[in-house]
Amino acid sequence: MSQTFQIRPALEQDVPAITEIYNHYVVNTAVTFDLDPYTPDQRRMWFRQFKTSGRHQIVVAERAGAVLGYAYSTVFRSRAAYDSTVETTVYVDRYAHRGGVGSALYADLFARLAKEDVHRAIACIGLPNEPSVALHERLGFRHLGSLTEVGRKFGKYWDIGWYQKSLP
Ligand SMILES: CC(C)(COP(=O)(O)OP(=O)(O)OC[C@H]1O[C@@H](n2cnc3c(N)ncnc32)[C@H](O)[C@@H]1OP(=O)(O)O)[C@@H](O)C(=O)NCCC(=O)NCCS
Repeated sequence: MSQTFQIRPALEQDVPAITEIYNHYVVNTAVTFDLDPYTPDQRRMWFRQFKTSGRHQIVVAERAGAVLGYAYSTVFRSRAAYDSTVETTVYVDRYAHRGGVGSALYADLFARLAKEDVHRAIACIGLPNEPSVALHERLGFRHLGSLTEVGRKFGKYWDIGWYQKSLP
């Protein structure tokens, strides 16, 4: 795929496409530990946590009006001393993989976070997930440890890996 997509802050009108991209992974994979797909209305409530500045932002990749993927930063843990830490993740439409979309989304998100009071980014990756591990490591995340069999999906237990990135 050529790099003919643009990255921009997500708008509420992107929520149905974001929901559709995510639901594919909810229903068909163990990369997320959600078990049930979301309705766009449910996702709209979730979407309202994001702002166009600050620690909690969401960006989309768009080509010819179609959303190809999204990346966002959220609260890591709610206790106040965790405020300078965010959790980040990225999802790309299954038809747009390996075209640089995930990298571009994260590059844009981290450029935005570099201007904010963010010290650490955490990614929690359900394992195995080779593409996600490779992408996170390439973007400067380091594997700090794993928890075994903490998720149960499709009648199996799954591990998670904790990945951390330092921000300037
Ligand atoms: C992980 C994901 C976001 C990567 O997005 P992408 O747009 O395909 O990634 P990019 O094209 O930017 O690839 C960047 C690098 O990641 C690595 N990578 C991506 N896909 C890979 C794969 N299938 N196998 C191995 N490495 C892979 C490579 O290092 C790649 O660089 P290269 O193409 O120059 O070798 C995408 O596979 C995805 O949406 N997966 C399902 C959802 C998911 O797991 N999200 C993360 C939750 S923690």
